[in-house]
Amino acid sequence: MHTLIGPFSQIIPLDNLAFKGPLTDENLRTIDKGGVLVKDGKIAATGPFEELYKSRPAGTEVQEIEEQSVLLPGFIDSHTHICFAGSRARDYSLRVAGKSYQEILKQGGGIHDTVGKTREASEEDLVQNIIRRVHRHIKEGVTTIEVKSGYGLNVEEELKMLRAIRKAGEQVSAELIPTCLAAHVKPKDFAEASDYLTYILEELLPKVKAEKLTERVDIFVEPEAFPVDASRPYLQKAKEMGFALTLHADQFTSGGSLLATEIGALSADHLESSTEQDVKALAHSNTVATVLPGASLGLGMQYSPARRLLDAGACLAIATDWNPGSAPMGDLLLQASLLGAAEKLSMTEVLAGLTFRAAAALALTNRGTLIKGALADMQSFPTHDFREILYFQGKLKARKVWKSGKLLQA
Ligand code: NIG
Ligand code: FE
Repeated sequence: MHTLIGPFSQIIPLDNLAFKGPLTDENLRTIDKGGVLVKDGKIAATGPFEELYKSRPAGTEVQEIEEQSVLLPGFIDSHTHICFAGSRARDYSLRVAGKSYQEILKQGGGIHDTVGKTREASEEDLVQNIIRRVHRHIKEGVTTIEVKSGYGLNVEEELKMLRAIRKAGEQVSAELIPTCLAAHVKPKDFAEASDYLTYILEELLPKVKAEKLTERVDIFVEPEAFPVDASRPYLQKAKEMGFALTLHADQFTSGGSLLATEIGALSADHLESSTEQDVKALAHSNTVATVLPGASLGLGMQYSPARRLLDAGACLAIATDWNPGSAPMGDLLLQASLLGAAEKLSMTEVLAGLTFRAAAALALTNRGTLIKGALADMQSFPTHDFREILYFQGKLKARKVWKSGKLLQA
C-alpha cells in the first residue's frame, strides 16, 4: 500500500550531497510544493505534489498537509548516554563555581556518582528512564538514537544496562543503536586501567556477543580515564572480536583521534582539544568526526573545531552526548544551531551533520536523506522556509514526526 503525504511548502531531501568536506547552501536542493510517496516504510518517490498525486498508484492513501510546513529527514543522534539513573546537579554547581570536570572525577565523583545510582537502579527502572528520554527526543524529530552503556563498570551491571537499552528499544518508535562503553572509566576496585580492560575483553565482551547485545564498542581515551597506550591493545582486540569501534577522543587532551584513525574507528567523538595534526588525520581518514556542542555548553568550554574539520575535508556529524554529567540538556537542534552560529557553518553543513553524516557515524546507509529506498523517517516544521529552522536556534520544533512512514505525533 502506498501513502502520499503533502503538499509541503518545501521538501529538503538532502540528496546528492558529499559525505565529506564543506557544503554550501547553493548545493541544497529544495522541492517547492512537494510530496512524498511512501511504500512499506520506505520512500518510493519525492517530487512536486501535483505530479505525484496525478500519477499515484490505485489505492494510495493520501495524508493531506494543510499547514505551511518544511519536510526534512528525521534527525540521528549518534552519541548519547541516556541509560542512567540520578542527577549530577551537584557536579554542575561545583563546575560553574570553578571546579573542573577532571578534578571532580579524580576525587571520586563525576561518572562514579552516576555509576553508584545506576547500579542501585533495577533494569526496569533504567528501561523507563530511557523510554522517557527517547519520547522527548522523538518529539524533537530524532528518529534514530545511539545509546551507550558505561555506568555499570562490571560484567553484571554493564549487561544490565545493555539489556535495558534493548528492552527500551522494543517499546519505542525510534530505533536505538546500543554501544558497549564498559571502558568509560576505571572502576574503583581495579588498581590498573589495563587490568580492567583485560577483564572487559575476557569476561564481558564474549557475553555481549553471545547475547547479541551490541556490535559496537567505545572507550573514553583521556589520561584520567584510559591513556592512549592502554586503549590501543583493547581496541585492537575488540576489533578482532568483530566489534565496530568509536572513541571518546580529544575531549581535554589530544591523542584519541589519532588512535581512532590509526585503528579504523567508525567515529571519533568530542574533539574539543584536537590539534591541527588531529584535524588533518581525521580529514584524510574514513573516521567520522563527531562534535558534541552539548558537552561544550554543559562544561562551559570551547566548541570543537567544526569549521576547520570541514575545511580540511572531514565528515562532520553533530550529536548531543546527552548524559547526566557533561551534557544534561539533550536538545539536538538547539545545540547544533548554536554550534553553527559560533563556528560559521552553513545551514547545509549543520543539517548534513544531523542526518546522513550522522548515519555514517553509525554505519547506517538506509537513512538520513529522503532518496528513493531510504527509510521514511521524516519530520515537518511549521514554516515555509527551511532557513527558519536554524534561525530560531532550536525554538522552532518539529510538528509532525514519522518513523518508517508511520506518523508518530499529530
Ligand atoms: O561524553 N567524557 C566522558 N563521558 C561523557 C560524560 C559522562 C558523564 O560525565 O557522566 C561525555 O562527556
Ligand atoms: Fe559521551
